[in-house]
Amino acid sequence: MTLFDVYPLFDIAIDHGKGCRVWDSDGIEYLDLYGGHAVISVGHAHPHYVDAICSQVAKLGFYSNSVQNPLQKEFARRLGKACGYEDYSLFLINSGAEANENALKLSSFYNGRTRVLSLEKAFHGRTSLAVEATNNPKIIAPINANGHVTYLPLNDIEAWEKEIEKDDVCACIVECIQGVGGIRMVSAEFLQALRKLCDEHNTVLICDEIQCGYGRSGKFFAHQHLGVRPDMITVAKGICNGLPMSGLLISPKFTPVYGQLGTTFGGNHLACAGALAVLDIMEEEHLVVNAAEVGEYLMQAIRDAKLPHVVDVRGRGLMIGIELDIPYKEPRTRLIKEEHCFTGCSGTNVIRLLPPLCLTREEADSFVKKLEAVL
Ligand SMILES: Cc1ncc(COP(=O)(O)O)c(C=O)c1O
Repeated sequence: MTLFDVYPLFDIAIDHGKGCRVWDSDGIEYLDLYGGHAVISVGHAHPHYVDAICSQVAKLGFYSNSVQNPLQKEFARRLGKACGYEDYSLFLINSGAEANENALKLSSFYNGRTRVLSLEKAFHGRTSLAVEATNNPKIIAPINANGHVTYLPLNDIEAWEKEIEKDDVCACIVECIQGVGGIRMVSAEFLQALRKLCDEHNTVLICDEIQCGYGRSGKFFAHQHLGVRPDMITVAKGICNGLPMSGLLISPKFTPVYGQLGTTFGGNHLACAGALAVLDIMEEEHLVVNAAEVGEYLMQAIRDAKLPHVVDVRGRGLMIGIELDIPYKEPRTRLIKEEHCFTGCSGTNVIRLLPPLCLTREEADSFVKKLEAVL
C-alpha cells in the first residue's frame, strides 16, 4: 500500500525535537517557527510532558466514556481556571474540525435553526459542517455544499446585522485572528456589536480558538483582547502539544442531554494526562506572558530590520503574519533549505509564524537574521 498523496511535502523527515528546535533524519538542526502548524505549545519533548504521557500510558491509555474519568474532571477544572471560564462546561473530542462540528450541532439543537454566518477567508476544518463554514470552494465537496453558510466580510457589522435580523441564523462562527486567512484580525467594535446582535436574536456566538487560542495571542484566548464572552469556544492544536485532542467550552445557557453528543476517543486518559501536563508547564513557565512579550519583541524586531519586500507585520503574541510584496514560496523554501528554519504561510504572500510558546528572544533574533538572509 502507498500513501494517499494529498500533501505537497518538503523532502525532510523530522526525527526528534527539543524546545523550539527539531532535527531531521540527517541530523540537521532547524529552528521551529511553525510549531508543526501551531500544535507545539510547550515545546518539543518537554520532560514534564514526556513523563506524564509515559506514566499514564504505562497505567491506562484508554477506557471508554461509559465510566467515570477523574482525569477529565480534573482537566475541566484546571482549564476553566486557567482561561477564566470556570462557569462553562467542557466536551472533549479529538480534532479541531470535530470541535467545530459539535459547536454547530449544539447550536442547532439549542435554537432549532440551520443557517450559519462565517467570515470571508475563514478556515474551520475539513469535515461536514466545519468545511461548509470554511470559505474555500476547492475543499468543499458537493456532498458538503448544503447551503447552510453565508460568508461575510471581516469587521463589516452592517453586513452581519442584515443577516442576523432575519431571525433565522443558528450561529455565527469567527476566528478572532484568522490563521489560514492570513493573520487578519477581528476588531473589538465588531465583536462587541456581534455579541449584542446575537443576544438580541437568539443566535449562538462561537469563537474558533483552535489556532489563535490556548495562549498563542498573549492572552489565553484571542477574543479576550476584545472584551466579549462567546457562547462557545473551540480549542485544539496546542491543547495537548501534539496528541490528538480538542475541546468545546460551553456556556451555562446550554443544557446537556444524555446521548446528544458523544465520541469514542474524546477525552481519553492519555490525552487528559498530556493536557494536564501542558497546563502545568504553561503555568510554571508563564508561557502566555512569554507569548505576549516575545511576540511583541519579534514583531518589532522584524519591523525595525526594515527588510526588503516586507510590507506589513501583524498579529498578536506568537501568531504573526509577515506580508510580502512577492510570493512567500521562494523565501519560505530558502528559509528551510538554506537557513534551516520552519515557518508557516497563508494565501500567496504571507509568511505565518506559529512557534512554540516558549520561544526566547535569542531565538527570535536568530529568526530575524535568517529572514534577512533570504529577503
Ligand atoms: C482556525 C482553525 N479551525 C479549525 C481547524 C481544523 O483543525 P483540525 O485540523 O484539527 O481538524 C484549524 C486547523 O488548521 C484551524 O486553524
